[in-house]
Amino acid sequence: MKKARMILDKDYQISQIDKRIYGSFIEHLGRAVYTGIYEPSHPTADRLGFRKDVIDLVKKLNVPIVRYPGGNFVSGFNWEDSIGPRELRPKRLDLAWKTTETNEVGLHEFCQWAKEAGSEVMYAVNLGTRGPDAARNVVEYANHKGGTYLSDLRVKNGAKDPFNIRLWCLGNEMDGPWQMCAKTAAEYGRIANEASKMMKWVDSSIETVACGSSSSTMPTFGEWEYKMLDECYDNVDYVSLHRYYGNPHNDTNDFLASSMDLDEFIKTVASICDTVKGKKHSKKKVHLSLDEWNVWYHSNQQDQKLYETEPWGSALPLLEDVYNFEDALLVGLMLITMLKNADRVKIGCLAQLVNVIAPIMTSKMGGAWAQTIFYPVMQASAFGRGISLMPQITCDRFDTKHYTDVPVVDAAAVLNDDESVTIFAVNRDLKDDVLLTLDMRAFGDMKVVSHLIMHHDDMKAVNTENNPNEVVPFEACATKAGEPVKLAYASWNVIRLSK
Ligand code: AHR
Repeated sequence: MKKARMILDKDYQISQIDKRIYGSFIEHLGRAVYTGIYEPSHPTADRLGFRKDVIDLVKKLNVPIVRYPGGNFVSGFNWEDSIGPRELRPKRLDLAWKTTETNEVGLHEFCQWAKEAGSEVMYAVNLGTRGPDAARNVVEYANHKGGTYLSDLRVKNGAKDPFNIRLWCLGNEMDGPWQMCAKTAAEYGRIANEASKMMKWVDSSIETVACGSSSSTMPTFGEWEYKMLDECYDNVDYVSLHRYYGNPHNDTNDFLASSMDLDEFIKTVASICDTVKGKKHSKKKVHLSLDEWNVWYHSNQQDQKLYETEPWGSALPLLEDVYNFEDALLVGLMLITMLKNADRVKIGCLAQLVNVIAPIMTSKMGGAWAQTIFYPVMQASAFGRGISLMPQITCDRFDTKHYTDVPVVDAAAVLNDDESVTIFAVNRDLKDDVLLTLDMRAFGDMKVVSHLIMHHDDMKAVNTENNPNEVVPFEACATKAGEPVKLAYASWNVIRLSK
């Protein structure tokens, strides 16, 4: 059995955790909306056509904010197509996902769904085929009280009260050649600056997120952030980061180490933001919005076949990754990484929420169930609120194909509002358990009051509609006062301590 030690001190704090790091994302893509959150003929559908079984699962995740309506989709989207009487809304080709968008669900419906789910909306504007004018108009439509053409149109369309959308994305992945009307950093920075400026003139209480690189693997990563921010630093509040990982070569040690890459990515973007701050002698600090993150690779081959057999279909089963146990471990590690960077990462959107690379799956006219990755997200959202502490961990380290000095144990600790402490810990070792000694310093005598664990002998085990509880958290053996906590090999642990 391996050994590890963790020191926690009340006074060593990273930051207050912004609850929006537990956000998610719904794009008009595949079956996220149609037969995902919305299926009017489903037995559980409410009067608006939203599936109640899905909303119940979303509520379990306690999602404070949901990014919408894209993603790549937004770069060709006319927000005006999604309002007014449904029978008059146009059907359009969606060039991002080679499908047909019916616009049956639009701005009003989504805001109603989000309210029902207990979430705020993070709305993305189209800075691909559209620009600053459409962007400022949708802010006026959504947030202005009334008395202008656009705000009165919202009232006429059934929403007397403004939607009060506080957080706005300035386009999506504008450096990607796959994006409709992709741009250079300077082109995008100028447009983002003007759009954000006008949007804030319409409603000064909003915050905006500028597009960072689509991924840290982009050749322009770094330079893009610097040049784009140089154009818009003073008018934006956050820079977006997108990052997905996969295990296509079945190298699980390497896969579980990839949260180290996320840590590096976050720290690099934060330092570029601060470089531009310095260059501009600005007093303002731009924070980070990790508004797309997850594991994504299982569905890649299937999607290609679907495009060939059903060109321009609607609600196709695209990006339907079936997540296994090791994916849940990496998702846990990514959450730990976000918590340890809580001073800079203020928004996080698990991409996505339903059916499309999602923790929640549905079958058409059938059930809804939780994938393996659902559980670490649910537990972090439930117990990861308060102040992120600075854990000092001593443990063994190992090397993998792409990473060196990978700690066997990675963990984050949260001082919860009720003065209890929650530790989220992953044992990356695929064979050995680890005995973790906790040195709680000024906390005094703290006892482990609960230890929930996710562990499975089969790293590839999955949950399905017929077997939804194959990989779920369970209560670990009790830890006696003063004794070390056992972290089973390949496990995600939620350890709650209190006086
Ligand atoms: O989340 C799926 C897609 O991944 C999004 O549409 C895009 O922004 C990213 O490339």
